[in-house]
Amino acid sequence: MKEIIDRLARDGDAADEELRALINESTEEARQALFARARAVRDQHYGRQAFIRGLIEFTNYCKNNCLYCGIRRDNRQAQRYRMTKEEILACCRAGYELGFRTFVLQGGEDPFFTDARMVEIVAAIRARYPDCAITLSLGERSRESYQRLFDAGANRYLLRHETADADHYARLHPSQMVWAQRVRCLEDLKAIGYQTGAGFMVGSPFQDTDCLVKDLRFLQALRPQMVGIGPFIPHHDTPFAAHPAGSAERTLVCLAIVRLMLPRVLLPATTALSTVEADGRIKGMDAGCNVIMPNLSPRDLRGKYLLYDNKAAVGLEAAESVEAIRRSLEAAGYEIAWGRGDYLNGKKG
Ligand code: 5AD
Repeated sequence: MKEIIDRLARDGDAADEELRALINESTEEARQALFARARAVRDQHYGRQAFIRGLIEFTNYCKNNCLYCGIRRDNRQAQRYRMTKEEILACCRAGYELGFRTFVLQGGEDPFFTDARMVEIVAAIRARYPDCAITLSLGERSRESYQRLFDAGANRYLLRHETADADHYARLHPSQMVWAQRVRCLEDLKAIGYQTGAGFMVGSPFQDTDCLVKDLRFLQALRPQMVGIGPFIPHHDTPFAAHPAGSAERTLVCLAIVRLMLPRVLLPATTALSTVEADGRIKGMDAGCNVIMPNLSPRDLRGKYLLYDNKAAVGLEAAESVEAIRRSLEAAGYEIAWGRGDYLNGKKG
């Protein structure tokens, strides 16, 4: 195992069967060796810093019907909400005062938020907070739409590919959603100039080790600036209610491998990881992560953006707890980076 980890750290690459062996590694000792290498590579580029992003979940309406997701269209139990532009701006203001310099606007695919409405929101945030990064996570849109939002001032876009195996993708989504379209969106986003984030769930139904190897290969080829990885967690009002949650250990292993393959990637320790694992955020940092995304949504809405059961949104997941978050990171030897936290290009300046 040591040779595989060494080579992965040196070349950012390993053979498929070696990746399979790492993903299925069951000894804690080997996993710890992998995490230590991932930490060292993270430290080399970013130090022991956690970049913070304020997450604003501004609508939970969604026209899609992903089989795993709690805000899927057919979930009649979901209490739907959408925030107004003024409410979104109020979140940004609160976040700015807490020290956040990146705002992540995340929502379901809500047709109410047309290009005109989104451009107005993005332009308003851009005008008020010229020193902040604006990240969007609004799902699949046309290339023209992505371009308009970029021109209005958005800098980054998160769109997980969910799985890099087209057949597996088809088992997680209704037939209107196709893998090729997802990839087209990611390529458009990169071409436009967004810092682009892809990613996947660990332990989603029907996933096997080969799916995960394909996910890693896909990321290697796409070279996104950001990668989001969290365990699948069932939601009781979805077709996947009876499927077990993904494993925290396997999630950590995937995060560490991604750190070694894409040394400068911005890699969040996700809320889903914190939901399945006590101290998940610190364990994520200790496996090579360098981003945390506390929740900046209005408190009364947080309980409604439920992609999966028991989603953590309070305590150390809440943006207003930033001082407690700082202390818990500090206790583990990390400090919060209070800047925009852009991707390091390797170019100076
Ligand atoms: N468990 C874990 N992650 C989920 N997501 C959606 N539903 C679930 C779930 N049940 C993830 C998807 C999506 C992101 C916003 O949340 O990967 O891209």
